Amino acid sequence: MKIFKIVQDKQKSLRMRSTPIAKEDLNQYKALGLEMLEYLKMSQDDEFAEKYHVQPGIGLAAPQIDKNIRLIAVYIKDENKEVSYVLANPIIVSKSVKEAYLTNGEGCLSVPKKHEGYVYRSYKVTIEAYSYLDDKMITFKAKDLLAIALQHEIDHLDGVLYYDHIDKLEPFKIKDSAIAL
Ligand code: CO
Repeated sequence: MKIFKIVQDKQKSLRMRSTPIAKEDLNQYKALGLEMLEYLKMSQDDEFAEKYHVQPGIGLAAPQIDKNIRLIAVYIKDENKEVSYVLANPIIVSKSVKEAYLTNGEGCLSVPKKHEGYVYRSYKVTIEAYSYLDDKMITFKAKDLLAIALQHEIDHLDGVLYYDHIDKLEPFKIKDSAIAL
């Protein structure tokens, strides 16, 4: 189990556009991707999080561990199900016009200071990526929190942080058409 050192938002690697992983290099990053997923899983275990002083997270992007490659992991667990993704070169191929936002705002392992305000994102997205859990290219649809987490992580690959999306003048502006999650 690897305890990653998470890069904080003042560091350059979080503001860079990350490089796609070439087809012939996909294999060499599989272990890292799986470790990122494992880190997320463990971070959601209270005892572990306390012992190792890690923040609980549902998503992690490679730039957050100081590697500017297009690699992300997402792990979301609730009473009903758990979903895991470890993706190389994820692309949003389509997104809904309908938007959603988290009523508690977003958080990020790389952002120690909480930035208040709503982040509007597409409610549904279709993602194309190389999946390390399937060892092949996949295309899938996501909605709700999963869609938000994927968009947040893919933003990291382009050097974008969640608070870039918060309206500076009216951080809690309500868009009536958006779904509150
Ligand atoms: Co983040």
